[in-house]
Amino acid sequence: MILKLKNVSKGYGDPQKSNYRKVLDEINLEVYENQKIAIAGPSGSGKTTLLNLIGTLDKADSGEIIFKGTNIIEYSDEQLAHFRNRQLGFVFQFHHLLPQCTLWENVLLPVLPFKKIAGKTEKEWAEYLLRKVGIWEQRNQKPSELSGGECQRTAVVRALINKPQLILADEPTGALDEKNALNLTELLNHISSEEGISLVVVTHSAELASQMDKIYQLKDGQLR
Ligand SMILES: Nc1ncnc2c1ncn2[C@@H]1O[C@H](COP(=O)(O)OP(=O)(O)OP(=O)(O)O)[C@@H](O)[C@H]1O
Ligand SMILES: [Mg+2]
Repeated sequence: MILKLKNVSKGYGDPQKSNYRKVLDEINLEVYENQKIAIAGPSGSGKTTLLNLIGTLDKADSGEIIFKGTNIIEYSDEQLAHFRNRQLGFVFQFHHLLPQCTLWENVLLPVLPFKKIAGKTEKEWAEYLLRKVGIWEQRNQKPSELSGGECQRTAVVRALINKPQLILADEPTGALDEKNALNLTELLNHISSEEGISLVVVTHSAELASQMDKIYQLKDGQLR
């Protein structure tokens, strides 16, 4: 097992006040090596919140999040940095590309903390991925010169560049037309099978969800 969530709860606001809202209520989840799971659920049900907790961008109020046997809450700063940079690929709902960098620079950015410059292998891998999702020609453009769907595909390539063990993707096909959504779904599927990457994908797309091994619904703080 690569990831296990044990009774994870998270709320927003002050628990003593009326504005408090419990978003996740004792969530349990298990993800195995190479397994692909989809999480669906209404807007505001807590899907992004859940991914942020697993991605260590936010902290749970209670419960345990165990990645390869260790509770991530117990990680040292060094372990956290390694986890985020090398073991995890995160595709954000609103992609978060660096506006001053080109598409090419954006996708190679995660390589820099451990290599200083991207080598031949990384560049070949980046080219392969960019061609695969059809944005190789746009590689010298900046995010402001790209369409929303092109930015989203860039974000997916960036998440794959370090060949992580786990990918968390928040609506990766949300801004794409049918053809490009299908392309991206195929890429995610193909790469995760080939590289043995586990996938947790938040999606409203029935097409994408149907290609995962398991589909969960998040509703009223519960995963079903
Ligand atoms: N930082 C925050 N402070 C207060 N409330 C928040 C915060 N972040 C999220 N929420 C609330 O928590 C709930 C869950 O938000 P979340 O973004 O996880 O939903 P979601 O399932 O990803 O929705 P969507 O499908 O629209 O992306 C929402 O009601 C939201 O308003
Ligand atoms: Mg969301």
